[in-house]
Amino acid sequence: MSDPVTVSFARLTGAPKGVLVVLTDDSLAFGAQAQKLVKGADKALTRAFDAEKFKGKAWSALDLLAPAGIEAPRLIVISVGKAADLKPKDFLKLGGLIAGKLPASAREASVVLELPGTKISADAAAEVALGISLRSYSFDRYKTKKKDDAEATTARAVTLLVSDEAGTKRAYAARQAVGDGVLFARDLVNEPANVLDPPEFARRAEEHLSAVGVEIEVLDDDALAEAGMKALLGVGQGSIKESRVVVMRWNGGPEGEAPVAFIGKGVTFDTGGISIKPAAGMEDMKGDMGGAACVTGLMYALAARKAKVNAVGLIGLVENMPDGAAQRPGDIVTSLSGQTIEIINTDAEGRLVLCDVLWYAKERFKPKFMIDLATLTGAILVALGAEYAGLFSNDDELSERLSKAGQETGERVWRMPLGPEYDKMIDSKFADMKNTGGRHAGSITAAQFLARFVDKTPWAHLDVAGTAMSSPASDINKSWGSGWGVRLLDQLVKDHYEG
Ligand code: BES
Ligand code: MN
Ligand code: ZN
Repeated sequence: MSDPVTVSFARLTGAPKGVLVVLTDDSLAFGAQAQKLVKGADKALTRAFDAEKFKGKAWSALDLLAPAGIEAPRLIVISVGKAADLKPKDFLKLGGLIAGKLPASAREASVVLELPGTKISADAAAEVALGISLRSYSFDRYKTKKKDDAEATTARAVTLLVSDEAGTKRAYAARQAVGDGVLFARDLVNEPANVLDPPEFARRAEEHLSAVGVEIEVLDDDALAEAGMKALLGVGQGSIKESRVVVMRWNGGPEGEAPVAFIGKGVTFDTGGISIKPAAGMEDMKGDMGGAACVTGLMYALAARKAKVNAVGLIGLVENMPDGAAQRPGDIVTSLSGQTIEIINTDAEGRLVLCDVLWYAKERFKPKFMIDLATLTGAILVALGAEYAGLFSNDDELSERLSKAGQETGERVWRMPLGPEYDKMIDSKFADMKNTGGRHAGSITAAQFLARFVDKTPWAHLDVAGTAMSSPASDINKSWGSGWGVRLLDQLVKDHYEG
């Protein structure tokens, strides 16, 4: 994990080091402690407010270099607008904003987490810390020039000055686990496919997750053939890389209680296979394992924060390549479920991977629910862009819980329809079904395909093709891989499935 920032906490009354960050609101007042710290720079501040016409509009900031009258080399004032209107998720954004304002040259900074007349709780302060950590992530493993620069390799130290030091530290411990899960997922998505092939993905999952107490099982080509996952193996057969399924188990809940299950599409590179994709933008298909990355990051998070839940994560890892051994359009494969599938387009490979893993998860673990995540269709980008993931489900309660967790975390989902009319579109002339449904309703027919492999198990499918990667930079993410979904599903578990 490449987290270039270490966040620590100290008492509000402590002595700040380095760049000084203080908060204000639209009254332009400071909290008592912040007021004390900027007192010497009062004049400079008033002049700067005037010069900039700074009115304390929400999320605006003012940056003063070497302000006369105080020791800090730099004073950054950030306004939250109307302090009374702050919602829990605004504190995450605030953390992102703070990190964004700190110049790369600032090796040390102190943030006075205090507002005039509004108490910042330990939970809110911990959210700020998480926001700082998420925003500070960058994937620069392959930038050799930067690596030589000592400044860029030593971590930046950000100290949050808070009223409840012990409480904030406690509140942050759980969030840091989730944050590390997000950064792990981002690393996996950003990593190029020549490095991160299915065996290497499995190895990294094993390395990171066994360290926090997750039980890991890796099924290799032989084990997958033995199990009967011919739909999944068919996708991988055109690649010189072996395929893998990784089973991750975290038992933090009552013994014997049915687990919740998360399933991820892990196509480490998607060329399209024989139905090959056009060259332009194909490099993005190194991120076609964003669903699997999320499931892996989530399992890390649940274990690292010792969530009181039984959870299983299963990821299907394959590379989709064109080759003499690759599968052809017209081929018919028999899935693990026994249902046969006519391959119309080898580029509709994600559903072929997921159908076997879903069936396997359902049969083996009899889970309370299954949620799969997949960069499944370009069509979901046409429908929803990068703002929402598509949600498809056979269960209203699970859907509503996911939607609510989406609102809470800012990782939002939008429910799309399913129905027999759409299901008919994937009936095949030669087999039980075909793997594409034609031009219309592409995301829905893909979901409809998956629905044939879940039986009565409450199930939700998240199409994350728009959100897992290449999404526009946000307050808390500047990297190509977003780690989308880790916070969403952690919140879902926290809200409904622990104790
Ligand atoms: N991995 C792609 C979907 C995708 C597209 C993810 C853009 C991220 C960004 C998936 O395997 C795919 O190729 N889907 C096809 C399905 C079609 C052949 C029915 C698509 O969306 O065009
Ligand atoms: Mn594809
Ligand atoms: Zn794909």
